[in-house]
Amino acid sequence: MELVNENFLKLKAGYLFPEIGRRVKAFLEAEPEKGKRLIRCGIGDVTEPLPDAAREAMKAAVDELGSRETFRGYGPEQGYEFLRKAIVDNAYSGLGVDADEVFISDGSKCDTGNILDIFGKGIKVAITDPVYPVYVDTNVMAGNTGEADASGRFEGLVYLPCTAENEFVPALPEEKVDLIYLCYPNNPTGTVATREQLEKWVAWAKANDAIILYDAAYEAYVQGSEVPKSIFEIEGARECAMEFRSFSKNGGFTGVRCAYVVIPKELTGSTKSGERVSLHGLWARRHATKFNGCSYPVQRGAEALFSVEGKMQVAKLVKHYMGNAALLSAACKKIGLAVYGGEHSPYVWVKCPEGVDSWGMFDKMLHEAQVVITPGSGFGAAGEGYFRISAFNTREKVEEVCARLEAVLG
Ligand code: MLT
Repeated sequence: MELVNENFLKLKAGYLFPEIGRRVKAFLEAEPEKGKRLIRCGIGDVTEPLPDAAREAMKAAVDELGSRETFRGYGPEQGYEFLRKAIVDNAYSGLGVDADEVFISDGSKCDTGNILDIFGKGIKVAITDPVYPVYVDTNVMAGNTGEADASGRFEGLVYLPCTAENEFVPALPEEKVDLIYLCYPNNPTGTVATREQLEKWVAWAKANDAIILYDAAYEAYVQGSEVPKSIFEIEGARECAMEFRSFSKNGGFTGVRCAYVVIPKELTGSTKSGERVSLHGLWARRHATKFNGCSYPVQRGAEALFSVEGKMQVAKLVKHYMGNAALLSAACKKIGLAVYGGEHSPYVWVKCPEGVDSWGMFDKMLHEAQVVITPGSGFGAAGEGYFRISAFNTREKVEEVCARLEAVLG
């Protein structure tokens, strides 16, 4: 008998983005003429060409593989030292992170899902609501939840509502939890957490023996130095947090694939008998067993993003997408909608017009404006009544989206 993991059967709807893809496909089949005008602002996928620095480095690395003297086979599972060192010297300068605490991978989506391998079954998990759906679905798959209720909330998860009232930074949990996923700049709301807010979270996690899984995939979009880019800017975070980062949204690597997680050596979890165990050690073991490393040319490309030219090219990309976010925010404000995010993030989170729900807004934008947005409710029950617009696009298309928003809603 082929026994299956029945936890998968609890996942009622499809993963959000394939679900959007299905609806868009149906629309394109039904309305091929209108479909020619389609502009996609749904999934946060980059549109601009790869930085030259990364392309050149990848080409040179491929050439190295073309001669026996410089050929490389399997690389270190944890990632090449040249990249881990470039990361700590640049992304974590002054924060006391050691290159040995960085694990290179092929994506933060995979990392935030796979990390559950090192935690015990049946742990208590807190997530914000709305939230990046991967955190929820991977916990369902891992058996850390019961069934979903009518609103799509899973029994056993602790949902922390993020609303306009709390500026999309949740209140601390009222019960003991083992893991908390925090993502800032936030996907989907595009909002950020202040230093003071993160200090409260770190203090809470330490006092309650909880681990913060901090997703900083969008840190490159933080403007200025007031808003923390890393949880490790907060004192004490090394004892209660790990941080996920990616080259997808800064270096345009969504198709190239390279990311990393930083797990401090101090970070420990507990066995049932109360023995403290290093999470760094467990993840190193897991990584070495189930992963053979990200490809050499890709790691050379990622390293090049930290070169002088690479940094300038990344800054230019971020500026481009932030310019798009400013245009989209302004267009939504002009038609009288409440707008959040978009100031330190490529996502603009918008309140639907009176009387329209999230999927209603999705359909309206698809059918009347031929623009794909993401329905807020797809990120959780507390996202109902909102929609997300991704600023990852060409300037020309963003200007067209702004005009169509005004035509349809203005
Ligand atoms: C999003 O649109 O939320 C992101 O692109 C998803 C991801 O990075 O996996």
